[in-house]
Formats: sequence, C-alpha cells, structure tokens
Amino acid sequence: MLNGLYDSKKNYKNLIGGDWLFATDNANLKIFSPIDGSLIGTVPAMSCEDIDYAMNVAKKSQNLWQETPMYMRAEYLYRAADLLKEYKQVISHVITMEIAKDKASAESEVERTVDFLRYTADIGKSLEGTSVYGENFPGGSRDKLSYITREPLGTVLAISPFNYPVNLSVSKIAPALMGGNTVVLKPPSQGGISALYLALVFKEAGLPDGVLNTVTGSGSEIGDYLITHPNIDFINFTGSTAIGHHIAKTCGMIPIMLELGGKDAAIILDDCNLDYAAEQCVAGAFSYSGQRCTAVKRILVIESIADQFVALLKEKTLKLKSGSPHEDVSIVPLINDKSADYVFGLIENAVSKGAEVITGGTRNDKLISPTVLDYVTTDMEVAWEEPFGPILPIIRVKNIDEAISIANRSEYGLQSSVFTSDIGKAFTIARKLEVGTVQINNKTERGPDHFPFLGVKSSGMGTQGIKYSIEAMTRHKAIVVNLAAPCNKKR
Ligand code: NAP
Ligand code: G3H
Repeated sequence: MLNGLYDSKKNYKNLIGGDWLFATDNANLKIFSPIDGSLIGTVPAMSCEDIDYAMNVAKKSQNLWQETPMYMRAEYLYRAADLLKEYKQVISHVITMEIAKDKASAESEVERTVDFLRYTADIGKSLEGTSVYGENFPGGSRDKLSYITREPLGTVLAISPFNYPVNLSVSKIAPALMGGNTVVLKPPSQGGISALYLALVFKEAGLPDGVLNTVTGSGSEIGDYLITHPNIDFINFTGSTAIGHHIAKTCGMIPIMLELGGKDAAIILDDCNLDYAAEQCVAGAFSYSGQRCTAVKRILVIESIADQFVALLKEKTLKLKSGSPHEDVSIVPLINDKSADYVFGLIENAVSKGAEVITGGTRNDKLISPTVLDYVTTDMEVAWEEPFGPILPIIRVKNIDEAISIANRSEYGLQSSVFTSDIGKAFTIARKLEVGTVQINNKTERGPDHFPFLGVKSSGMGTQGIKYSIEAMTRHKAIVVNLAAPCNKKR
C-alpha cells in the first residue's frame, strides 16, 4: 500500500501528476502528535514554483478528465471507496495520531467517507440536463429550443480543515471529480499526513495522473499564492471564519464556497422531553471535545425548567470519559496549546463575570475537562465566541422570543436546534432562526451527507451536500437551436 508515499524516515510526499514528490528545496514541516508530542513525520513545505508545477499539471489534465465518461469517473470513486474501506485501520490510526481524534470517531470518519464516495458516484451518474422551448417568454415560440447541460469549471482548489482531514477533503474532491474538474488539494498542516494517505487511495484506485494533486505547506505562507493562482477556477474552503473572510476579500472574481465557523444554539422549551434533549445536547457539545463546526455551542433554556435541565446535563456530562484518543473516550486533548489556552481563557472570563461551573473547569495541558457553565450572560465572551473546545454555556431565557433574539444576535448562522413536543411551535421558531439548518428534536450536526449543508452570515457561502456540491462545482451550458432556420427546415 505505502509505495512511494514516504521515505524511510517518514518524510511524506505530495502527489503531483501521478508522482510522489518532496518540495524541490526539500523544505518540510514537522508534524507532531497532539497526544504525546511525538514526531509522526514531515510533510513537504511546497514553494511557489512547486505550486506552479502542481497547478499546471492540474490544468493540463483537465481536458482529458472532462472527456472521461461519467460511468468511468464513477468507477474510480467506487474503487477508491473499496480501498479506503480496506485501509480503514491504518488511516484511522493516522488520524488519531495526527489530530487526537478518538479511535471510534476516527474510524467513523473513514467509514463515512467510504459511503460519501459511493453516493457521490451514484449521484454523479444520475445527473441529467434539461431542455426548454422559447415559448414561455412573450414573443417566443417553439422554434427555439435551449439544451442545458452542466459543464466542469476547470481546476478546483480544495482547502480542508484539521478536524476532518479525510472526510472534509473528500467532500470537496469527490463532487469536483464527478463534475469533470481536476483538483489541487491543500490539506491542513496538522492533518496533512492523513490527507496524503487519502491521495494514495485515489492513486491506487487508478485515478489518471494529474487529476488529483496535493500541495502541503503552511497556509499562512502559501495560502495567498494558492488562492490567487491564475489556474484556479473555483475555491472550495472549509475552515475558520477569519480565513474565510480573508479568502473572500482576496480572491477577486474566482467563485468560492465557504464553510466556516458556528455558534450553534440549542433552544430548550418547557414542553420537551428533557432527558432526551439533555442527552442530545451533551453528545452534540462534547464529541471530539467540541472541535466540530456543528457542535452545540450554547444552550438557550426557558428559565422555568432550567434547574431541572441543568441537573440532567450535569448527570450526563459527568459520565463522559476523558483521556487518550486510543481509548474509548470522547474528551481528548485539543489540537494544540494555543487552542487550549483560548478555550480555558473563555472559561476564566465567564467565571470572572459570574458564571457557575457545573462540571469541569479544569485543565491538564491540552486536555480540558467537559465544562458546563450555568448563568452565562450576554456580556461574557463565551456567549458569542466559537470555542472549538469542550464548553457548554447555558443562557437562561424568559421566553421563546428572547431565545430567538439571542440566537440571532450571533455573527454566525450555521445551525440551531429546537427541542419541543409541539411541532407547529418548532416550525414557527425554525422559520425565524437565521441559520442554514434548523434541527427539530435533534442535535446540530452535518449530514447525512446528501442533505444540504450551509451556513449563513459569517458561517459561510454556498451549499454543500453531495448533489449541491456537484452543482456548485459545475456551471450551466446552454446550446440554443433555432428549429425554424432555413437549414433546419425539412426539404
Ligand atoms: P483554519 O485555521 O481556518 O484552517 C483551514 C485551512 O485553511 C487549513 O488547511 C489551513 O492551512 C488553511 N489556511 C490557513 N491560512 C490560509 C490562507 N491565508 N489562505 C488559504 N488557506 C489558509 O481552520 P482550522 O483550525 O483547520 O479548522 C477549525 C475551524 O474550521 C473552525 O472555525 C470550524 O468551525 C471551522 N470548520 C467549519 C466547518 C463547516 O463545514 N462549516 C467544518 C469544519 C471546520 P494550515 O493548516 O497550513 O494553516
Ligand atoms: O466541523 C464541521 C463538520 O462539518 C461537522 O460535521 O456534524 O458531522 O461532525 P459533523
């Protein structure tokens, strides 16, 4: 399996034009495990010249790929899915080492990606064009017919975040490929090795050389060069709102898709099944230590039931296991010290302003205990900031209107949950929430992956989800025929 991916010292290589390559000047980034600080390996720190090479290869390969029939494009994805499934243990172990994702979640990331590949191949094959007569518009007639098909955009730059290095790379690569595009993948630095294993899977699946290429290196150094590269026809980015804003400002007329940060609220009404809602909120807030864009990041609970609900949250949170990601735990060390410092700072800020620590509030290096904070008020940073860590702030509200108002005051608009037994009330609230998705009686979460997935406000631009992603990375092409022209008339 590992042929060419790395050398005897675990210096990993990029896949460009079907070859495994170091940076031409051999520069690299050392990748240490957040679990124990051990060196996992290095990834190349690509130079501008290396990037030019990858971009040129991607551009040159696109025409042939565009001409590859849809069923064959799908075959490569099915093969990649089979191989990814076969390599599940190896790749999920790399994910665990590299981003400290617990074993079960790392395996589930790989399994979900296998399903994603297969479904994308299926959907790609089922896409059809349309046609329309000119008669619908005043003065038009059936003499004119427009055939509308979908065409590739060209070369897609896919930039993925650390928290799903395999899945959120495939969620861009697979729809782009089915749309007939070639891809340059810039994976996260921490998570880059996992993504290079993914590239290996595509290579072994027989994907033609140059159709998928990878460029590793620090985003802060090569990011601007990548996003302004003239060979790029679309940027598909998942990551922080700060970098998303920067990309939107910098990349000019290149179309983009952005999936960014969130501050997802769970609104708890007095008529819901409290035990079930608490179970959902704890799972939603703390899996992978809250390092998910869709984690439940604040609770807005009606004050008449707040004491009861907080007690249930406490009971369930205390059952969570913390520790080594190799074990059966949900609370794991955060990705780096900076992140842990930030998360702990939010806890300290809240406590200094009067929040009550219900569980947790302690730290051992990068491992922060799952922290439920009650009596959080809107003057505390934790009420608005995205922690990307294991904190669940509770804001007690007087009524539904106050809950909606606080939910909508956030700069973010990814998802919200509403827990109630009154479905009519749930729909009324859902319509008023300024988010991409409202979950009724369910924790906030992406997926299943054929659902549309989108953020509004500072949470993103454009819609992901398998069919939607293929649509976003293709454009309409209309061919209009004038059936009444002399050359088209029957003799
Ligand atoms: P990040 O720091 O924004 O990094 C994301 C990617 O952008 C990485 O590959 C990074 O490379 C690259 N990058 C950094 N600077 C760049 C630049 N100037 N130009 C182009 N690319 C650049 O985010 P993260 O810490 O990996 O992920 C956590 C954030 O992502 C959270 O805010 C989370 O909410 C969000 N997220 C959102 C979704 C969603 O679907 N809405 C999903 C997952 C995560 P380096 O690693 O080399 O810096
Ligand atoms: O981190 C952001 C991901 O898109 C969240 O996906 O809800 O399946 O964990 P998830």
